[in-house]
Amino acid sequence: MDICIIGAGYVGLTTAAVLADIGHTVYCTDVNEQKINKLQQGIIPIYEPGLTEMITKNQDEGKLFFDTDSERHMADCPFIMIAVGTPSARDGSADMVYVKSVIAALSQTIHSPKIIIMKSTVPPGTADWMEAELQQLGVDKGLFEIVSNPEFLREGTAIEDTVHPDRIVIGAKQNEAAMNVQELYHTLQTQFLITNRLEAELIKYASNAFLATKISFINEIARICDAYHADIMEVSRGIGMDQRIGARFLHAGLGYGGSCFPKDVNALNDAAQAKGIRLNLVQAVKKINRSQVDIYLNKITHSLGKRSDKPRIAVWGATFKENTDDIRYSQAIALMKKLVRKGYGVYAYDPLVSSELSSVVWCSNPYEAVEQADLLVIATAWSAFIEADWPKVKALMKRPVIVDGRNCLDKSALEMYGFDYIGVGRP
Ligand code: NAD
Ligand code: UGA
Repeated sequence: MDICIIGAGYVGLTTAAVLADIGHTVYCTDVNEQKINKLQQGIIPIYEPGLTEMITKNQDEGKLFFDTDSERHMADCPFIMIAVGTPSARDGSADMVYVKSVIAALSQTIHSPKIIIMKSTVPPGTADWMEAELQQLGVDKGLFEIVSNPEFLREGTAIEDTVHPDRIVIGAKQNEAAMNVQELYHTLQTQFLITNRLEAELIKYASNAFLATKISFINEIARICDAYHADIMEVSRGIGMDQRIGARFLHAGLGYGGSCFPKDVNALNDAAQAKGIRLNLVQAVKKINRSQVDIYLNKITHSLGKRSDKPRIAVWGATFKENTDDIRYSQAIALMKKLVRKGYGVYAYDPLVSSELSSVVWCSNPYEAVEQADLLVIATAWSAFIEADWPKVKALMKRPVIVDGRNCLDKSALEMYGFDYIGVGRP
């Protein structure tokens, strides 16, 4: 099949690579000329394990193309997949400005039958609204079907998640359109759930809100563990062994960040408000996550005590999680900003980020960051940090204190090396 993908971001690029690998001919387009120029030269603008190899292979095999001319490929391809951003607007609603510009372009290009697949995360009712908009703009109703096909990949494991998804949800008005979309994924061994479009749109928001809820829940239980001197790692393990609960997404730490959970939790809340519904649980999830950085800040200031000099703090990790270069809504960056505001000197290192806040000194390796440091914060669980040379770290630091923002280090081993270890919910 010929597929035009609109938006060459984390989702667009990964989906383009996997669909080409399945055997389709994919034209991935973006308005960002610089990005497309790089992609045409085989330079991948984001860090995502395995993506470069899959893109290059399929470019070489003549199955994957990058172009800025969306209109041409929209006009030519029977399948059009939308993967543009839907960031949070100021009021917390999903900002549909990029989706609207795609609709405007689509209205000029649909002259033959199309299946328009919405991959972006969009509020309930978007597919119905798009259908009405396109007709209003003069597109013949018989020429297109809009199908909701939300994406569940995670950054850092995007290829693996797309090739082996837990499920593929397809929301359509007509069963034939749903079957056509299912056929695009014919080589993937997974379960398909066919629903109507509103249900598919809501499944996406509800999934992200539920995962965010699990994280805020375990972070709140970690607070009780702190108070009672119990270990959250054991408590979490015990909870997760119950198959009704499941072990994943029960890892306490600095809280969730990234381009999705914060904005999707807000957008779900906004969609509920639009119907006069107050989502009390979702409000609490947001509130707990917001205060998680302050919990760490208190632990840090308490450890440093009152000082006449300017304490020097090393922060390892800037991205919102490991194995990605994405710093959108990163809790690590939020913590760094608060540390700077407190008057501390912040020396940061991240394998993929080397400039962001100008008030932070960016170091070229983790050991440079800890030189003469009064305290080291692990803000992102990169494996290089977990496997650090701890005797070397201890020798370089002024005070051997580690604040583990991701509860990812071996507490007993570090204590054996002579560190003072501070996690969340770790006695
Ligand atoms: P992104 O910001 O990485 O990429 C979006 C791309 O769309 C950008 O390159 C931008 O230039 C391009 N774009 C904007 N308007 C365009 C237009 N009119 N024509 C062509 N290109 C245009 O976004 P992302 O992280 O890939 O997310 C895309 C959507 O997928 C969002 O709705 C997001 O919520 C959802 N999603 C993201 C993830 C994830 O892990 N990042 C996972 C699941 C779902
Ligand atoms: C998340 C979802 O997991 C994907 O299914 C979804 O497709 C995507 O959002 C989206 O809609 O964009 P992602 O944001 O890439 O994926 O990363 P996650 O692995 O979910 O992590 C999100 C945040 O939660 C990170 O900051 C991570 O450190 C934090 N987290 C995760 C925890 O604090 N504890 C956990 O147990 C798990």
